[in-house]
Amino acid sequence: MSHVHITKSLFVFTMEDIIKYENVSYSYAYDFDDEEEELNNIQVPHVIPFAVKNVSFSVKQGEFVAIIGRNGSGKSTLARLTDALIFPTEGKIYVDSMDTSDPELTWEVRACVGMVFQNPDNQIIGTTVNDDVAFGLENIGVPTDEMQSRIDEALRYVGLEGYGDMEPHLLSGGQKQRAAIAGILAMHPKVVILDEATAMLDPVGRKEVMDVVHRLNKEENMTVLHITHHMDEVVNADRIILIDNGSLVSTGTPKKIFSQGEMMRKAGLEVPQVTKLMDNLRNNGIDVPDDVITVDEAVLALEKILVK
Ligand SMILES: Nc1ncnc2c1ncn2[C@@H]1O[C@H](COP(=O)(O)OP(=O)(O)OP(=O)(O)O)[C@@H](O)[C@H]1O
Ligand SMILES: [Mg+2]
Repeated sequence: MSHVHITKSLFVFTMEDIIKYENVSYSYAYDFDDEEEELNNIQVPHVIPFAVKNVSFSVKQGEFVAIIGRNGSGKSTLARLTDALIFPTEGKIYVDSMDTSDPELTWEVRACVGMVFQNPDNQIIGTTVNDDVAFGLENIGVPTDEMQSRIDEALRYVGLEGYGDMEPHLLSGGQKQRAAIAGILAMHPKVVILDEATAMLDPVGRKEVMDVVHRLNKEENMTVLHITHHMDEVVNADRIILIDNGSLVSTGTPKKIFSQGEMMRKAGLEVPQVTKLMDNLRNNGIDVPDDVITVDEAVLALEKILVK
């Protein structure tokens, strides 16, 4: 056993890199089963469309990374690749030093990465919140006597203590998504991916979910990949990955990304409202600092101006 351990720690990647993409490309066109292949045999296109093109990046354990890009840019494909639901056509992905293409590691990768999807109702399978949270645990073979304590712990963490016996459809959207997060947490993952998990929520539900995710990131050092169209949700990320047409356009701090308005517009995205407001003020001759991107920073900057 100790031999395995030593081999792992001598891995070429620093242990800090929980996710590493090396020249990854992916095409759905290569990913059909035999039956489909037969059906499509004569329709295979001459130019194979790649949903992800030669993407390289890495994410450190405990980083909060937002992935942004217009519709169809490849965000969900990156999420599925990271969770070993699909596998690179070219290149390599390592999750916690595991090659996601290694069939023997598929379940270990999936246990390491928890995913929350857009539609809360599609994630409900059980008749009680408890059942829903237990579902993943059953899949990874957690002993029955350990299950309930894991479920209780996870529900408590997301603020749903005492909701275990409730019917999931009675929960609000935000509560449903928090229950989905609890289902993941119970599996003790190292990475949580939210694929537009806030898209169908009202502002209150969005805030509830974002608060839980930020707390997980800060308190538990959980690595978070947050895919969203809400630019206001990404200003507090450690880093942003901007993709367009399957390619990585840029990565950097929110301040760096949002200061590149032209690049954002080319990638089909709006800059956050605060950035827009600051640009407007500046264009109207009002002297505001050029690194203001969060609401809190805007309040401070405006207070200074108004008090003058
Ligand atoms: N199951 C699939 N089969 C074939 N092509 C697909 C499939 N899913 C996505 N694609 C294509 O792959 C590309 C990337 O799609 P993807 O869903 O990753 O984008 P996205 O950034 O998540 O978009 P959105 O913001 O709309 O969710 C698009 O061209 C899309 O049409
Ligand atoms: Mg998507």
